[in-house]
Amino acid sequence: MKILLTGGAGYIGSHTCIELIESGYEVVIADDFSNSSMAVLKRIKEITGVEPTLYNIDVADIASLDELFAKEKIDAVIHFAGFKAVGESCEKPTMYYRNNIDTTLSLLECMEKYNVKRFVFSSSATVYGNADRVEYVEDMPTNAVNPYGRTKMFIEHILMDASCADKELSVVLLRYFNPIGAHESGLIGDNPNGIPNNLMPYITQVAVGKRERLSVFGNDYPTPDGTGVRDYIHVCDLAAGHVAALRYSEKNRGCEAFNLGTGVGYSVMDIVKTFERVNNVKIPYVVTPRRDGDLPEYYANPAKALNVLGWKTEKTLEDMCADSWRWQMKNPNGYTEE
Ligand code: UD1
Repeated sequence: MKILLTGGAGYIGSHTCIELIESGYEVVIADDFSNSSMAVLKRIKEITGVEPTLYNIDVADIASLDELFAKEKIDAVIHFAGFKAVGESCEKPTMYYRNNIDTTLSLLECMEKYNVKRFVFSSSATVYGNADRVEYVEDMPTNAVNPYGRTKMFIEHILMDASCADKELSVVLLRYFNPIGAHESGLIGDNPNGIPNNLMPYITQVAVGKRERLSVFGNDYPTPDGTGVRDYIHVCDLAAGHVAALRYSEKNRGCEAFNLGTGVGYSVMDIVKTFERVNNVKIPYVVTPRRDGDLPEYYANPAKALNVLGWKTEKTLEDMCADSWRWQMKNPNGYTEE
């Protein structure tokens, strides 16, 4: 069975690629390397013994995508490709809407033309926006509050409409919480461009000496220690969630959303302290004012994914901290040397 991964060279895409290969799937990656590295392909081969077929294309470019679908007999699509920085999306909303929505529309058009009926979408807990409860459940209304989040929310709606119109279509919307960690080999991991926006890559860059200290964005939230609480999920658990979603899409039609999280919230200081303890390193930090747009606390209710997909997380916060650090230590400058 052949699976197309758009954005398959990215952080979550590359980990999912490994999980798919190890589960016996054939993988075709479409990536334009705008936010990822070609070196990932060799690393995937080192880990699995298989180098996935690569199309270095912009998925929004329908002519290139059509060629791919004409050459490969694709059975299902997992769509990761997309811009993902919240701050940048506020500065360049048009670019975000154009890219994230165009790639999805091109895929849907090609899938229709080539009769491909299974679509797994890389969505985000950010679609829930400023919900009035902190444990997110899939049937809560969506209400994203920034352009990045709204691209995810609008794409979810586009896919729901597509599945209403074509009763043979199977669409699975995966709402990720906060993916951290890396493959235990230390060969692939999160490789952000420039100064990291997200907490874990910032911590690992402090640990490796690339940044002086972490800024903890606010310690006056109504949470146990005053710092923000999130549901951190190991990227390999997340990758396994895609395989479960793919299996589900073989037997089920329609459109379903699933939270992929652990169901447990940890604070920024929980992460810092656990990282220090597990890896025996110091993370100097300073408390700064809150970051605009951050919520105090949220985490997943992961029951639906367990009951329907038979999926749950296996890794601990200690695993997440150890694996993130191993990746950073082995690759202090990410993939850039290659
Ligand atoms: C962010 C995005 C979310 C995206 C997710 C991917 C926002 C508002 N949301 O979530 O849409 O899906 O990344 O993982 O950006 N923190 C610090 N110092 C730092 C960085 C972060 O204290 O240098 C804190 C934040 O205030 C927050 C927690 O760490 O409490 C997690 O932050 P981050 O990793 O950026 O993820 P989110 O903001 O939850």
